[in-house]
Amino acid sequence: MADYMKISDDEKGYDLSMFCIPKHYEDDLERVYIPHGLIMDRTERLARNIVSDFGYEEPIVALCVLKGGYRFFGDLLNYISALNRTSDRSFQMSVDFIRLKSYQNDKQTGKIQVIGGDNLENLRGKNVMIVEDIIDTGRTMLKLLDLVKDYEPKKVRVVSLLVKRTPHSVGYRPDYIGFEVPDKFVVGYALDFNEFFRDLNHVCVINEKGKEKYAIPKS
Ligand code: HPA
Ligand code: MG
Repeated sequence: MADYMKISDDEKGYDLSMFCIPKHYEDDLERVYIPHGLIMDRTERLARNIVSDFGYEEPIVALCVLKGGYRFFGDLLNYISALNRTSDRSFQMSVDFIRLKSYQNDKQTGKIQVIGGDNLENLRGKNVMIVEDIIDTGRTMLKLLDLVKDYEPKKVRVVSLLVKRTPHSVGYRPDYIGFEVPDKFVVGYALDFNEFFRDLNHVCVINEKGKEKYAIPKS
């Protein structure tokens, strides 16, 4: 099973005043949960694990799951590219993007929509690395894997920055995990609450005030 850095249920995180938080979010967050520096250091190690597992023989297609995955994707690929630059061996990487949407407020809507991205025909016969921000129930990823399978890739591996410990999990575990986090709604480092908080460097826990402020009224 993939190893991961565990953030325990009683983890208090860090006081907001210890870090630089944008003024416009100061009142909307509970605590800093995973500081940006720690995300970067863990990502560097994931890159090393991925490179040593994938081997060097064949090119890979890195598939970014938008929008939440964009920062992790960029940083992970930078670390992988650095290894490719400095090692005696290297492999080619191309990038593809897919945009999925399933959450409104802090709830899954039940329908997972593909709302754009590259033509998945690019994945046919390739070694594919799917890069995601968070596995919560696991439903979104199972659906995406099902979709990708139709294009008959040679090999598929999934990397997720976060995996949530939740009773709603369908039991899916990705191949590479950055952190396992408690069952709380987290934002920042491109993870959003109704499209807000992507412009926050650290992974933080949103507070009730933040949820109210950025809620989409039920129609
Ligand atoms: N935060 C942001 N997006 C999410 C989460 C979360 O905790 N779970 C599923 N999508
Ligand atoms: Mg999201």
